[in-house]
Amino acid sequence: DVNNNVEQYRSRFHFTPEANWMNDPNGLVYFDDTYHLFYQYYPHGTVWGPMHWGHAVSKDLLNWEHKPIALYPDKHGYIFSGSAVIDKQNTAGFGENAMVAVYTYHNANLEKENSILYQTQGIAYSTDKGETWTKYKNNPVLDNPGIKDFRDPKVFWNVDKLKWQMLLAAKDHIQIYESNNLKNWAKISEFRLNDNPPLGVWECPDLFKLTVEGSTEEKWVLIISHGGESSPNGGSGTRYFVGDYDGITFTTNQKVNKWIDYGTDNYAGVTYNNTPNNKRIFIGWMSNWNYATVTPTETWRSAMTLPRELKLIKNDNGYLVKSKLIDGFDNLTSKVPEAQITGTYPTKFSYSNLQHSVVAFNATINTELSLELSNKDGDTYTVGYNKNTGEFFVNRGKSGHVDFNENYKKSAYQTMQIGTKEQLSITMVLDASSVEIFINNGEYVMTTQVFPNSDFTNFEIKNPKGITINNFEFKEVKK
Ligand code: FRU
Repeated sequence: DVNNNVEQYRSRFHFTPEANWMNDPNGLVYFDDTYHLFYQYYPHGTVWGPMHWGHAVSKDLLNWEHKPIALYPDKHGYIFSGSAVIDKQNTAGFGENAMVAVYTYHNANLEKENSILYQTQGIAYSTDKGETWTKYKNNPVLDNPGIKDFRDPKVFWNVDKLKWQMLLAAKDHIQIYESNNLKNWAKISEFRLNDNPPLGVWECPDLFKLTVEGSTEEKWVLIISHGGESSPNGGSGTRYFVGDYDGITFTTNQKVNKWIDYGTDNYAGVTYNNTPNNKRIFIGWMSNWNYATVTPTETWRSAMTLPRELKLIKNDNGYLVKSKLIDGFDNLTSKVPEAQITGTYPTKFSYSNLQHSVVAFNATINTELSLELSNKDGDTYTVGYNKNTGEFFVNRGKSGHVDFNENYKKSAYQTMQIGTKEQLSITMVLDASSVEIFINNGEYVMTTQVFPNSDFTNFEIKNPKGITINNFEFKEVKK
């Protein structure tokens, strides 16, 4: 069946568009018991094109219902990335509890004329829970100040100041704006860094407060995605800074770069507004601009990462943002009976549905860890950790389809420095064409796409003497 082949790489429990091209998550907002996911969407092809906002809704962030396209390009331009808020007090006059989308207009005509003023900010609103949308008649609400890359507004209600605030990526820095009504915006500060060499273009910022786990200390986290080649994972990637925000200016003492994810495939991620219990839920685009348009899927392109709850911890290395699987994810999984595991427990087992599963274990590391996923075609995906060097790696160099793009091939081997650990906990989530690895409850994460010729069915820990497994769990995801 042709469709089966085409669909082999379609994620079952990660969000994918029904058809055609998708990139960044947009307008992440929770309203009336529902999570909304808008996304950069091109409905007429499987490569990037004039951008729309696609739309989906979910009760649990795992089961999604597709909705009609929310925003179409108009005379001001394509609809680039942005955010959504709920205007509880009707500050904008669109109605009480109006859902307001704040996004970037990308005017391709101006761009062709070599103007640098082609990105401005616009707004649109919905008074029926995101079903239908009206563009604000006086768009754009923020003109271009003379900066070539000026985009990706993240708006939130600042509860301390009782004002709307907006972060914008402005080429090589962040600008922060403020408003009473979502229509008139005034700049209040900038955030710059002395990166040497400079990283790729700044995109998709986010700013939010977190409490350090186990204390009452509050810090602010700034997220910035970088296009280009500059990220440690080979291509576009997302870094974060932990610091302070006085309602005007963000400051940080953080000297080293920390990354939300050290794999190749987690970009342009931002967090939800208005979540229950103030949870900070993050979703990223599970691809990389280095090869996003040529991955071997045919009728659609790209998936989102699993939603992750961000938590802040403090240890010897300073502050660390953890990405944890969300509460509720376990409901999708069921434990596979022990009988399925063969060999010297638990060094090796085969299972037909490994490609849609969770492998989790705690281990005491004596020397190193080396594990491998493989299939009947001899494709492999390997994962390793060396206790002496503190280096963790994944390698998809022989994982099946790797030749479709030079950059994909080049980035096959990914490493990250996690320090010397006696105890390691690993959770690997596999779903059709992705592997997400959460180390020590998400202190470090590696997310990679993978396109094996056939499903991986074998799991093996190749150096059982190098580690002692304390506890091992294999769960399949039924969806
Ligand atoms: C990030 C990005 C954004 C932009 C959008 C365009 O991946 O480049 O900066 O708004 O994609 O689709």
